[in-house]
Amino acid sequence: MSNDAAVAEPNLNVESYRLPRSVVPSHYEITLEPDLEKFTFAGHEHITVKVIKPVKEIVLNSIELTVDKAHVVSDDGKTIDGKTSLDEVNERLTISLVSEIQPGTYKIYIKFAGILNNKLHGFYRSTYKDKNGQEQILATTQFEATDARRAFPCFDEPDLKATFGITLIVDKNHTAISNAKLKSEKIEGDKKEVVFEPTVKMSTYLVAFVIGDLEGSKEHVVDNIPIRIWAVPGKMHLSHFGLDIAKSALSYFARYYGIPYPGTKLDLIAIPDFAFGAMENLGAVTFRETALLVDETKASHAELERIADVVAHELAHMWFGDLVTMKWWNGLWLNEAFATFMEILAVDNWKPNWKRWDTFSVSRAQAFAVDGLQSTRTIEFPVRLPEEAQGMFDVLTYEKGASVLRMLEQYLGAETFRKGVSLYLSNNKFANAETTDLWDAIEEASKHPVRKMMDSWIFQEGHPLVTVSSDESGTGIYLDQERFLFLADSKLKETLFHVPVMYKAVTDKGTVSDKALLTQKRIQVKLPGKLKWIVINVGGHGFYRVSYSPQLRQRLISDGLKDLESIDRFNLVNNTWAGVLAGHTSLPEYLDLLLALTKETDKNVLETIVGSLSFINAMIDPSEKPKLQAFIQKLLGDAKKHFGWQPGKSENELYREARSIVFGALGTIGADEETRKEAKELYTKYQVDPSCIEANMVPAIIRIVACCGDEKLYDEFFKEFKAAQTPQSENRYLTALAAFSDPKLLERTLNSTINGDIRTNVAPMIVAAVMANTKGRELAWKFMQEKWQTMEEVFPAGLLSRMCNGVTNLIDAKLEKEVIQFFATHKVKEAGKLIDQYLERLHVSVQLKEKEEAKLAAYW
Ligand code: BES
Ligand code: ZN
Repeated sequence: MSNDAAVAEPNLNVESYRLPRSVVPSHYEITLEPDLEKFTFAGHEHITVKVIKPVKEIVLNSIELTVDKAHVVSDDGKTIDGKTSLDEVNERLTISLVSEIQPGTYKIYIKFAGILNNKLHGFYRSTYKDKNGQEQILATTQFEATDARRAFPCFDEPDLKATFGITLIVDKNHTAISNAKLKSEKIEGDKKEVVFEPTVKMSTYLVAFVIGDLEGSKEHVVDNIPIRIWAVPGKMHLSHFGLDIAKSALSYFARYYGIPYPGTKLDLIAIPDFAFGAMENLGAVTFRETALLVDETKASHAELERIADVVAHELAHMWFGDLVTMKWWNGLWLNEAFATFMEILAVDNWKPNWKRWDTFSVSRAQAFAVDGLQSTRTIEFPVRLPEEAQGMFDVLTYEKGASVLRMLEQYLGAETFRKGVSLYLSNNKFANAETTDLWDAIEEASKHPVRKMMDSWIFQEGHPLVTVSSDESGTGIYLDQERFLFLADSKLKETLFHVPVMYKAVTDKGTVSDKALLTQKRIQVKLPGKLKWIVINVGGHGFYRVSYSPQLRQRLISDGLKDLESIDRFNLVNNTWAGVLAGHTSLPEYLDLLLALTKETDKNVLETIVGSLSFINAMIDPSEKPKLQAFIQKLLGDAKKHFGWQPGKSENELYREARSIVFGALGTIGADEETRKEAKELYTKYQVDPSCIEANMVPAIIRIVACCGDEKLYDEFFKEFKAAQTPQSENRYLTALAAFSDPKLLERTLNSTINGDIRTNVAPMIVAAVMANTKGRELAWKFMQEKWQTMEEVFPAGLLSRMCNGVTNLIDAKLEKEVIQFFATHKVKEAGKLIDQYLERLHVSVQLKEKEEAKLAAYW
């Protein structure tokens, strides 16, 4: 959108982005007939509406549809003709009636036609190759946030709930799926008319239909609900794992919420081209293939965890989001934060060994990383235009939102919290709610004034840094709060939060675990004896950072470290690293802390350590790299010996994943020759005998080999990517194409992102991955600038902004200037605050480079 001066600006009066409430729908009867060869569809609908006050005009949402005819029929059978006009800028269809109609019940009839687009929104087409290598098409939908209006004219706002009767006219050999159960099927010639039962009352963004040559699994019944998985033919052997978690999560949620599943059946459908991870259409949940289909004997823990998460997340939405929906998009967190929180609960319930709440610390850290910026936003945030709704799907809604819910749950107690949630859902079922309704219900269930506490987290930007120091007597502590910011600002710093502080203190009179509520700038907390060492935010559930006075920090590291749980070590490392980025802590001090952790085997701690080392790798001058590599080899050398390449017998998955993190880091940013050589040998063996490498190690080995691979290997990997038998294998080889070091090869990868070799649902992420590769970043940056217009045209909305995340790797003052200039003239419509956040993060990094580079050179 570089030269958009000529494009009409949408009107920002409330009347232009919210539909009038004078006409409200109660039922839609929609018939659609897609043409999978011409990429078009024809449709007509009857919408039953209640007219509340006399109107001469009916306004609905519609975009990229042509409307042939529209009229209104009154209860007593009178037809009132209408003239239609489309306003593409405000995405509206206005039906001007020949005469005013009075309050009462009417049916609106509209005949329309549209295109099956390839932008992965609205009613769109997806392609795949069948077993004969022939290209096949399927038609599917993605309506959230505001794209139902691309498939049929509708009152496309979440609180205008209605029931939907869908009829699809399809090729007689095709399968058609929608939200509700099949009602009837009738074949006429080459066509089949498929009629579905009416849905429950729900929002337009949850309507879905999928049409094509689909193959379904056997039906599995849980609590009387039949569950099936669907995919393009030949993939049913990859459906078992997804089915297992779906069955477990569905019954878990019905019990947790104390409310039965709101639909009558549940289909989980894998779609080859899918913009997001998955979509919670009631009864017809759609997924990208990597998020549903897997060969569990060959997948890594991370790949399996992803599927369990996504399935559980979408099923959590069947209640949170589908049964009870936010009134408007500003309350999106009620949907997404809850689904994320519930997803972790359900996966934790299914596989306690996965320690899902510990692993969630990695996601929480991503939210911290954005929320520490001045350009963060409040969890609940004003939304007007459709593109602003799109901008709400970010880590602040999901991960920060889920974190503050977990914090509240832990503070109140799990069962009290559950009762409040259940009450909220049953109070608002088949309707809409706002944040305040949630606090009403939780206050009623808990008898605690949670609104006051939670408002400070939901309606204020940022999060606190809690500083702890010994009081004068040594038998107590001071807790001080100020807002945590990467770029200091004395005014912003003042924000106060209601911080539930859980702590564990070791004193000369024994150990205490207790909680305090920090609502002021400072409080004093008394301890039973003289303090030895203390962990603040013990268990890691609080959404705040912690900083220890030098003395307490020293004692924590020298005396406490060996007794800390892994989550507390994670937070110690992550908070110290954040302190480096914010300029509170020097980089050498951080690296010293890492050297105290050479025995670390926890996957999450290792992941955060390796993340920070990758950052340093991106920050330093290439001439300094050998020193960083030597440091990494020293830091992870013990771990490498400890883990070894081959797994022991009774290892759990997390431990295996930890091994792959250690070897992955040594073989890539650590440039450890021995690791690289061994990885290459193993890869050669793996091609003959795929069982010779433990499943978790395969992705790491592929990355290592790519990192030092030549053109021949690149060609091999490209072939493997194209011929892959599982979505995971496809994804591993594809992402490896961004990990090569030779600029010529990276250039090829970049070209593949826009020439059709790579699907548009991953291409933007591959551009970002090349930008994250120090050998390719300038190349990718140049490519992105040159091909911007093409990318705007072909990449799905929403993914372009995620691609731009790549620029945060351009840690260099000169490149930073270029990035600022570029985004000053190139706007990303759906990005919300994302671009500002990337720019600020880049600035933080460039500042750190300037400040710490010399210190670092002296340290090595
Ligand atoms: N409702 C979202 C899908 C969505 C995302 C629609 C963005 C419109 C814009 C869905 O429930 C979701 O959150 N999907 C996540 C995966 C989930 C496990 C966090 C996704 O698609 O990334
Ligand atoms: Zn969601």
